[in-house]
Amino acid sequence: MLNKSKNWKYSNLIDNKNYNFQRDIILNILSNQFIDKAFNTISSWDNYSQTPLLNLNKLEKRLGINKIFYKDESKRFNLKSFKALGGAYAVEEITKGDKKKIVSTATAGNHGRSVAWGAKRLGLKCKIFISEFVSNARAEEMKKLGADVIVVKGNYENSLNECKIQSKKNKWEIIQDVAWQDYELVPKLTMSGYSVMIKEISNQTSEYITHVIVQAGVGGMAAGVIAGIAKYFKRVPKIIVVEPENADCVLKSIENGELTKVDIKKESILGGMSCGEVSLVPWKILKHSVSHCVTISDNYISDTIKFLANAELSEKKIIGGECSTPGIISLIAMFNDINAFKNLQFNSESNVLLIGCEGDADEFLYQKLLNS
Ligand SMILES: Cc1ncc(COP(=O)(O)O)c(C=O)c1O
Repeated sequence: MLNKSKNWKYSNLIDNKNYNFQRDIILNILSNQFIDKAFNTISSWDNYSQTPLLNLNKLEKRLGINKIFYKDESKRFNLKSFKALGGAYAVEEITKGDKKKIVSTATAGNHGRSVAWGAKRLGLKCKIFISEFVSNARAEEMKKLGADVIVVKGNYENSLNECKIQSKKNKWEIIQDVAWQDYELVPKLTMSGYSVMIKEISNQTSEYITHVIVQAGVGGMAAGVIAGIAKYFKRVPKIIVVEPENADCVLKSIENGELTKVDIKKESILGGMSCGEVSLVPWKILKHSVSHCVTISDNYISDTIKFLANAELSEKKIIGGECSTPGIISLIAMFNDINAFKNLQFNSESNVLLIGCEGDADEFLYQKLLNS
């Protein structure tokens, strides 16, 4: 089965001409205090435990590489994604548990689930706005957590606009993971939450990571991971952002050296990553600290989900949802291309970190891809 992947190709791969990783600049944008507070708070929550750092040892052998680490976020607080570290943490910081406060957000799924769960933990009411294209399975998960789910006609942007209008009218606290002008605190809190993954990894292995491949939608997770690297890693790895080929807003922005909006012509099945615009705060971090950007098609997602589920990449079976696959796909594709392999300076000593950012958060889609 794994042999199939010998023909896999990436869609686009670029170097960042403005690459200049500087820890102090990154930690000026997302400060040490923010990062420390996020870890101290989140690690004090009931049921907190670090998510596993797995080895994809069968893939290591196949590619001839020292280590491939896979951070398994399917185990994060029963929420099945890394997003549990962001929205729920921001809910606590913004409301301080004041039961009179009502929180709101717009979401493609995982972020809203985190906000709903954060509100439930503190006994707060929660209003979630979703586009008509968000699956029923995802809406149901948020309802189960006690949130009111409001379906809005149109796409994610329409749901965010409606959330802003209703929240202003009703004096609800918006807990959004995307920044806009004069709305930077909550996105910073969510990014600080995501940096907890890197704090854990720095305790889970003493190997120096040489390459990190991190998925991007609006860039919040990538920026949180990079801030974590700036704070916790002794050596700076190559940082490769991976996106769907139809929603490559980070790649286009890095290529142009400025924020560039992408018109999404066809939605990727990587729902959480199908974003046309990089968020403002993440961009400040990404523009000089991402070393490479790569994009992939949807073609290899279901095979990769099967590889994970059937223990073809590792000793253990892994439940990885659609957004957990791009790191694996792009790594294999870069190894299949001698120019990319050389450009990225891969060799038998490389230690690669992949972020398994979600499990079967959308169970229906997961089963469909697994059984396709
Ligand atoms: C599972 C998953 N992976 C990756 C992303 C992308 O994260 P960001 O939008 O912070 O770049 C998302 C966002 O919703 C997601 O839900």
